[in-house]
Amino acid sequence: MGNSKIKVVVIGCGGISRAWLIPALKEKDIEIAGLVDIRRNAAEEKANEFKLKNVFIGTEYREAIKKIKPDAIFNCTTPEAHYETTMFALKYGCHVLVEKPLADSMKRAKEMVEEAEKRSKILAVIQNRRYYNYIRGVQKFLSAKKIGNLTTVNSEFYIGAHFGGFRDQMEHVLLVDMAIHTFDMARFLTGSDPVSVYCHEWNPHGSWYTHGASAHAIFEMTGGIVYTYLGSWCSEGINTTWAGNWRFIGEKGSAIWNGMEKFEAQKVTGRTGFIRKTRQLKISFPERKENSEGHYGLIREFIHCIKTGNKPMTMASDNIKSLAMVFGAIESARLKKQVKIKWE
Ligand SMILES: NC(=O)c1ccc[n+]([C@@H]2O[C@H](COP(=O)([O-])OP(=O)(O)OC[C@H]3O[C@@H](n4cnc5c(N)ncnc54)[C@H](O)[C@@H]3O)[C@@H](O)[C@H]2O)c1
Repeated sequence: MGNSKIKVVVIGCGGISRAWLIPALKEKDIEIAGLVDIRRNAAEEKANEFKLKNVFIGTEYREAIKKIKPDAIFNCTTPEAHYETTMFALKYGCHVLVEKPLADSMKRAKEMVEEAEKRSKILAVIQNRRYYNYIRGVQKFLSAKKIGNLTTVNSEFYIGAHFGGFRDQMEHVLLVDMAIHTFDMARFLTGSDPVSVYCHEWNPHGSWYTHGASAHAIFEMTGGIVYTYLGSWCSEGINTTWAGNWRFIGEKGSAIWNGMEKFEAQKVTGRTGFIRKTRQLKISFPERKENSEGHYGLIREFIHCIKTGNKPMTMASDNIKSLAMVFGAIESARLKKQVKIKWE
């Protein structure tokens, strides 16, 4: 690919597409060649907002891909459209970066991963939290075993989010559309993979969603780690950050984190006494650089990987394990029992 620009078609020009177009238009290696949305006015609005002249605007992604022959697709469609749009793009020889969640079922996700592998194309997922410096700092701290091997991890996500749109009617809205971020963070932060889950999912009284705005799930992870998730998308007041509140317990100490800059860790130093003495540990977060976190970092890495043949951190072949946590939790809630988590 050398110095040539990567030609990109954006499919789905709704709410999140701004978070893609802002960084993409700052990248010298990207040419936005087309904007597609089944709602033509959504594609036109984005073209106007970002002053994109001479780009293809349309409602049919198949037509756009055949006509433009892009190197890559930025897939910002709603979850149920990820499968058909991604499969078509892969078959036409495009690399695909798709919004989370990878797919709306495990069967579809597996087919997408297989298709990408068959065509030797990159299929990666916007799991943007992995590209935030605070999260990277905590991951580095934990992987250095400063509080020893992890045994127990808890996270809490409480945000009263009034989106309107597709989420209001979506089944398992918290687990499918949001918990995927937190579950993927749990894998990233602990360096472990899911083994089994017990989940209780419900829609609390007063919820403005149709289905599943709250869930509690207990995961067994590899390495004997137990990870507990508590979440709600309809809890008004005292919201957590989007990354959530976390507690990490290791064999030699504990840490708490608010998902942003507030982090506290204590390592045990005493050898006697009812409660052993501890000392405070410091964390150093990587320097925050402008235009480098979240979608910026991921989009840049995706383009770099197309050019160099490397693989991004959020390859679908790995991200499918985070998706398996979502569908495992849904299955457990349905059966009202603990289930094994599988992705192969
Ligand atoms: N990474 C994040 O932090 C983050 C944040 C918000 C949303 N998202 C994800 O982004 C995706 C889109 O969410 P949104 O909030 O932008 O939704 P949205 O409804 O605002 O936009 C989605 C757009 O896709 C279009 N679309 C649907 N099917 C299509 C098809 N077959 N061809 C062309 N266009 C099609 C719709 O018309 C709509 O304009 C979802 O998967 C969501 O989970 C991710």
